[in-house]
Amino acid sequence: MYVVETNDLTRIYGSGEAQVLALDHVSLQVNPGEFVAVMGPSGCGKSTLLHLVGGLDRPSDGQVKIDGQDLGRLNDDELTDLRRERIGFIFQFFNLIPTLDALGNTALPLVLGGTKPAEAQERAANWLDRLDVSDRQTHRPDELSGGQRQRVAIARALVTEPSLILADEPTGNLDSAAADDFAKLLRETVDRWERSILLVTHDPRISSYAVRILKMKDGRLVEHIENIRNGATITELEASHA
Ligand SMILES: Nc1ncnc2c1ncn2[C@@H]1O[C@H](COP(=O)(O)OP(=O)(O)OP(=O)(O)O)[C@@H](O)[C@H]1O
Ligand SMILES: [Mg+2]
Repeated sequence: MYVVETNDLTRIYGSGEAQVLALDHVSLQVNPGEFVAVMGPSGCGKSTLLHLVGGLDRPSDGQVKIDGQDLGRLNDDELTDLRRERIGFIFQFFNLIPTLDALGNTALPLVLGGTKPAEAQERAANWLDRLDVSDRQTHRPDELSGGQRQRVAIARALVTEPSLILADEPTGNLDSAAADDFAKLLRETVDRWERSILLVTHDPRISSYAVRILKMKDGRLVEHIENIRNGATITELEASHA
């Protein structure tokens, strides 16, 4: 079974003259344990695709299945539950809550899901530790570096132990070293914790960590590339960037 399957996924924004065909019959699959990158120019529909796959938005036409479950058959409450239990999100601008410290931000998806605060904090602390930011638990986002913020965002996405991570890669506001670091952390997530990742990016250095690359243009999938480095270790990938 696929972790993600879309069939002729289509999203039209607006109506009449202002209509935008943001996503045009996109069909793709992500296997368990796969790191798949979606690339393409600004405005080609990458975030729209991610929002639909994550059940944050409903398609105009077509289908999304997560772990075989058709999202179109779920009501809003069921969709919220599925999202909370199975999917971790890393948004384009991280979306950390400014008034919560790193621990509070990381624990939030658990707290919202009804986990007792003490347990939520313990599990959040555990993930911050795995991502090497345990010494920043009590810092608010504005007291963290960009790289630390991205680690907190990844910890928050992993805290519910989801099978799927959806990431809108934030290259825009990261320098190239931080962008590389971000991709490496995601790759480790797949290798070490056996999650699946669907990652949106403009950056070929980041997509080089994926096993497959899907290229989009004007709302359509136009190319499907098996990464020639598929199977390369992180160390080998790093060396190729040096
Ligand atoms: N809520 C909305 N209402 C109307 N049009 C929208 C809306 N959201 C996105 N669009 C349009 O849909 C198209 C796809 O947008 P989307 O955000 O998916 O692009 P993207 O590939 O993520 O771009 P970027 O790389 O700049 O983040 C764009 O033309 C955009 O202007
Ligand atoms: Mg986008």
